[in-house]
Amino acid sequence: MEAPHHEAPAVTLKITVNSPEQMGELGRRLAKLLRPSDLVMLTGELGAGKTTLTRGLGEGLGVRGAVTSPTFVIARVHPPLGEGPSLVHVDAYRLGGGLDEMEDLDLDVSLPESVIVVEWGDGKVEDLSDDRLHVVIDRAVGDAADEAVDETRDVTVTGLGARWADADLASLGA
Ligand SMILES: Nc1ncnc2c1ncn2[C@@H]1O[C@H](COP(=O)(O)OP(=O)(O)O)[C@@H](O)[C@H]1O
Ligand SMILES: [Mg+2]
Repeated sequence: MEAPHHEAPAVTLKITVNSPEQMGELGRRLAKLLRPSDLVMLTGELGAGKTTLTRGLGEGLGVRGAVTSPTFVIARVHPPLGEGPSLVHVDAYRLGGGLDEMEDLDLDVSLPESVIVVEWGDGKVEDLSDDRLHVVIDRAVGDAADEAVDETRDVTVTGLGARWADADLASLGA
């Protein structure tokens, strides 16, 4: 007889972020929810604010080294300054699909002691964990006088898997 399949429902929160500073603050709040083994996937076009969010997250976790947009480095490890997990910041833009191509990064080895944040990881890193926090950042498209300088971002945070089923995502909001 087949066991009943219980899938934890996805938990979602939508937030409007109005400036780079607020995006950093969102990262710092997010850091409070994170613990070792957590995988965070960031989705959004170039300039959406993925790295800005990760910078705040690194500040919140209290890790060493500045979080930047890596030009040649695909993954950068930021060790903790005190207690807590390392931050592994991955920019998967240049990587092809499939975990095979990411094998050299040994993300599966790092994961138990780390928070792993991946930019451009869609379709590439899902095999790492069934428990994932997906953060989608959209530039708000509207009637802003000058869209090029519009700083509004719509952020959708979705927790997948048992890890996030009871998480207090509401604490990320204002
Ligand atoms: N609300 C906002 N959140 C984040 N970044 C913003 C926002 N408004 C404007 N920006 C600017 O957009 C750029 C985002 O860059 P970055 O974080 O590197 O994006 P990504 O990593 O998604 O390519 C920065 O220059 C930042 O100052
Ligand atoms: Mg980036």
